[in-house]
Amino acid sequence: MKVLIIGSGGREHAIAASVAKSPRVSKIYCAPGNAGIGTVAECVPIGAMEFDALVAFAKENEIDLTIVGMDDPLVGGIVDVFEAAGLKVFGPRANAAILEGSKAFSKDLMKKYGIPTAAYETFDDPQKAITYLETAKMPIVLKADGLALGKGVLICNTKEEAIAGVHEIMMDKKFGDAGNHMVVEEFMTGREVSVLSFVDGKTIRIMASAQDHKRAKDGDQGLNTGGMGTFSPSPFFTDEVRAFCEANIFQKTVDAMASEGRPFKGVIFFGLMLTEDGPKVLEYNARFGDPEAQVVLPRMKNDIIDVMEACVDGTLDQIALEFEDNAAVCVVLASDGYPVSYEKGFVISGLEKFDEEDGYYCFHAGTKKNENGDFITNGGRVLGVTAKGATLPEARANAYQATEWVSFENKYMRHDIGKAIDEA
Ligand code: AMP
Ligand code: GLY
Repeated sequence: MKVLIIGSGGREHAIAASVAKSPRVSKIYCAPGNAGIGTVAECVPIGAMEFDALVAFAKENEIDLTIVGMDDPLVGGIVDVFEAAGLKVFGPRANAAILEGSKAFSKDLMKKYGIPTAAYETFDDPQKAITYLETAKMPIVLKADGLALGKGVLICNTKEEAIAGVHEIMMDKKFGDAGNHMVVEEFMTGREVSVLSFVDGKTIRIMASAQDHKRAKDGDQGLNTGGMGTFSPSPFFTDEVRAFCEANIFQKTVDAMASEGRPFKGVIFFGLMLTEDGPKVLEYNARFGDPEAQVVLPRMKNDIIDVMEACVDGTLDQIALEFEDNAAVCVVLASDGYPVSYEKGFVISGLEKFDEEDGYYCFHAGTKKNENGDFITNGGRVLGVTAKGATLPEARANAYQATEWVSFENKYMRHDIGKAIDEA
């Protein structure tokens, strides 16, 4: 069969590498893709938001399954457009992708169905938000309602910071229309765990757990980024935590969406915080995490096409997910200066050393080819270097060793990805 993947980051490279392992697949396209994805798929220069052009491409090339990796097209309704054209597509419809697309929606859903999350208020009037914050307990968390490239969350330590935050989000519209509404949330503390799942509208199957490192610098210092590295599994996602989430969060979320007339098909990403009062939902995403996908998918034993088709067809109850009994660590190689400003266009060497058969992967996030056919840097996050190991410490040692194979000017990485596992 022929598969089209929509997106252009390390996540889509990891999806493409998984799809390429399926004996059922004869051809993979990726729109728009990147240079690394081009080694496993044919990249086509159509943007992820060009729905009509994507549908036309899928029809012309008789695509059997389209997989949407990114949040923007999902929230924008790409799945509805593909379905209306009679095309098979993996991902939630717009009315379900709202689980990620509106934080106010997801908070209200959790409240209505008793799913544990931080206490909150929503505002559409900045003056009312400011009045509320005058007497609220600090620290406090402000969240732009809509999609904001993972950046629309402000943690405020003082009343002054919080009021400045309202200006930023709601009045200056730093995150655009995402700031038309705002959620103000209780500040929680605890370890974070990412749990990805496949969902077919009724049934949910949990993938191996993972943890992301969002801050730019070692010791969780510096600015928030798209993610500087991940490890899987998370030793903090114990059997006890899992049992709690199974009873109170996972299936409840799927059932809540179905009850609201918004059956969710695709991937639900649960961003959890393990607080003193038990696990709580920090956020939902309606897609694979990036770089979480880069440590979770290489460990999955199932044929990803079988699983995704079962999600689309509503037969996920007949599938048992299986993961390798090992660990994986992904270290992101970024351009120095990310996430603020950085140079691009440097030649990358050492990529030929990676061999998936040995458990080493180099997923491309921001690369392209120059006129000589060399891979060059083309973004803030450039590569995701993933290695497996029998244990987390072994996977971490392997991943850091593999980061040494790769050279490019201004190469930057964190040196403490997975360090928290030493405390487990
Ligand atoms: P989100 O995009 O909602 O996951 O938020 C981004 C990051 O902000 C999370 O990964 C947390 O580190 C932090 N965060 C979000 N909500 C809270 C909260 N209520 N309390 C403490 N930290 C939070
Ligand atoms: N790694 C976090 C995300 O994909 O949103």
